[in-house]
Amino acid sequence: MKKLTILITGGAGYIGSHIVHDLVELGHNTIVFDNLSTGLKQNLHPDSKFIEGDILNKNELQKAFAEKVDIVFHFAALKAAGDSMIHPSKFAEGNITGSLNLMIKMIENNIKYIVFSSSAAVYGNPQYLPIDEDHPKDPTNYYGYTKLAIEENLMWFSKLHGINYAALRYFNATGYDIRGRITGQEKDTTNLSPLVMEVASAMREQLQVFGDDYDTDDGTCIRDYIHVNDLSDAHLKAMDYLLNENKNLVVNLGTSKGSSVLEVIDEAEKAIGKNINYKIVGRRAGDPAHLVASYEKAKDLLGWEAKHSDLKTIFESMKKVYFNS
Ligand code: WQD
Repeated sequence: MKKLTILITGGAGYIGSHIVHDLVELGHNTIVFDNLSTGLKQNLHPDSKFIEGDILNKNELQKAFAEKVDIVFHFAALKAAGDSMIHPSKFAEGNITGSLNLMIKMIENNIKYIVFSSSAAVYGNPQYLPIDEDHPKDPTNYYGYTKLAIEENLMWFSKLHGINYAALRYFNATGYDIRGRITGQEKDTTNLSPLVMEVASAMREQLQVFGDDYDTDDGTCIRDYIHVNDLSDAHLKAMDYLLNENKNLVVNLGTSKGSSVLEVIDEAEKAIGKNINYKIVGRRAGDPAHLVASYEKAKDLLGWEAKHSDLKTIFESMKKVYFNS
């Protein structure tokens, strides 16, 4: 395998750091570019270069291209969907302007390939299930719109500048490295599984379950949880696809299997061996009842499917980070 030089924006963050560890172990030369707003130095691989910088700062960004980069992995972004509805300008800048800065720098530095962290949030409320890549794109929050806008710009840059991109639309990313290489807990999370772990490890008193009157078997919302190691595997396969096929790629990353909030809590209790203190409260605005991915396209084009995304493995992997065991 050819040794590549890979630039990873947001490489100290939750998902990015997992992929950096895999890339380093494969023998690639990695450069992490991260402003540490949510990323953690603790998550960096010792054999990876680190540049502290912001994609909004073009001078800092240029430093990331001091060496000839073969491919960019772009994770750096704001991701709290609720916050995007209150502070849209922050998301417009951080996600859209930041990504455009990066793409322009790629063109200036003659870099052709990019793997982009997109999201199931581009689809909005499901019109049918499972959601495939042709499903209408009608985001219900501004965060989802920023991801869609970046995908559209990638498409135009591909047409006009000849770049090749992979847009990977994650469903509900969760879990921690099953080998325990990543130890930093995500800060200020609003996602279900880390909140469950915060309650289990007494960092938080109670979990609020947002609504039990949805049209699902137990009344709570159903989501498609995908383990971060499975996401990493898909990134590696997407990179090979770009380099070998020279075609763009837009795929969902999920399992097609949905789990309700109460099923998640139940599986967490079994894996952790503790009861999770929770209370049913009102619905959270904007939550669709049921979201699951079709991953047929990723399977066909990449030969990818999830291997670690059952809830037992997910919570076992999170124990290492929240209980150090
Ligand atoms: C999961 C389920 C909640 C917290 C988000 C983003 C989305 C994408 C994935 C990145 C829902 C319920 C949650 C809590 C609860 N992100 N819940 N109590 O909203 O499906 O998706 O992450 O691209 O854009 O919106 O994930 O983890 O917040 O919620 O009951 O305290 O858990 O209602 O049904 P969500 P989540």
